[in-house]
Amino acid sequence: MKGLILTDKISDRIAVRDVELPELKDDEVLVEIRAAALNHRDQWCREGRYPNIQNGVILGSDGAGVVKKLGRDVDPTWQEKEVIINPAMNWGENQKAQSKDFQILGMPSHGTFAEFVVVKGDRLYTKPEHLSWEEAAALPLGGLTAYRSVFFHGKVEKGQKVLVTGFGGGVAQFAAQFAVAAGAEVFVTSGKEEKLSIARQQGVKEGFNYKKENWAEDARKVTGGFDLVIDSAVGDTWGDLLKVLKPGGKLVFYGATLGNPTGLDMRRVFWNQLTIQGSTMGSDSNFEEMLAFVKSTKIVPVVDQVFKLDDALQAFDRMKAGDQIGKIVLSMD
Ligand SMILES: NC(=O)c1ccc[n+]([C@@H]2O[C@H](COP(=O)([O-])OP(=O)(O)OC[C@H]3O[C@@H](n4cnc5c(N)ncnc54)[C@H](OP(=O)(O)O)[C@@H]3O)[C@@H](O)[C@H]2O)c1
Repeated sequence: MKGLILTDKISDRIAVRDVELPELKDDEVLVEIRAAALNHRDQWCREGRYPNIQNGVILGSDGAGVVKKLGRDVDPTWQEKEVIINPAMNWGENQKAQSKDFQILGMPSHGTFAEFVVVKGDRLYTKPEHLSWEEAAALPLGGLTAYRSVFFHGKVEKGQKVLVTGFGGGVAQFAAQFAVAAGAEVFVTSGKEEKLSIARQQGVKEGFNYKKENWAEDARKVTGGFDLVIDSAVGDTWGDLLKVLKPGGKLVFYGATLGNPTGLDMRRVFWNQLTIQGSTMGSDSNFEEMLAFVKSTKIVPVVDQVFKLDDALQAFDRMKAGDQIGKIVLSMD
């Protein structure tokens, strides 16, 4: 089968190659991938900036497709079903944090940027009927991460003021959509004006350009401060984020794209009784709740652009440049 592997043999680090179809174990299934979606993790792997990366592995955590073969122990009713795959593997029983065996599909195990993927039968979920293949493929990792950040940790409530930073990002898109659907007043930041105007068309109250020096002051004037901020940039943006939180507010972050913060005003954190909470993907319960929420609210993931598997290099370069609004998708058709 064709698959997009990580390789150090070429300067681009990724290439579509023929890869042997893995054998099925008793608890596994073979899914024919119809569409797959990029996450920043895939680009981090390409740049060698992710732990435990191995050459020869097929990248990709997000996928939707049709179940083609079942291991002996898998419920036979899955045969030929249209599914999405939960890429969070071995979370374990503790809802507060993942187990030491936790892994994400697509490194070090073969992922979804291929014609077929082998996963455990318990990673299958019925594809939401209101979504196309591309939209369904866009949902799993970003939807799960955003859901846990906004609901499990953020405990968003109707009427609260919520700020989602970096609106163009794949996860940020879901966080904004979920918070809007939960009845919050949602505000966003972005480094690009055109992304801010798109946000306003999607139920977001107002957007602020984080490249403008006084954006945080403007945001405080307009909103009076936020109950909840959802972020994945970190770096030195946190000085501003701590300033725009209301006393008693919470900052939930699921990434650190810009690295660690320097010179953080920790007095502001204790004096204003702020909470800083880290979050990573989510448990199986979080995934089930996220899927039920998306089905009941008929939320549709924002698909930025769809590329053929053979054009995956262009798709990765688009993510690297940060030009996207929402999810970049690979179609296997
Ligand atoms: N812990 C987890 O489970 C988990 C899960 C998924 C992702 N992540 C991490 O979260 C981060 C985002 O992932 P993604 O897949 O959503 O990436 P993505 O689609 O590539 O989005 C990245 C976004 O970051 C925003 N950004 C860049 N500089 C910023 C700044 N100074 N302030 C605010 N936002 C800024 C940009 O938004 P604009 O274009 O709007 O400016 C950009 O679109 C990555 O670091 C990723 O590794 C972690």
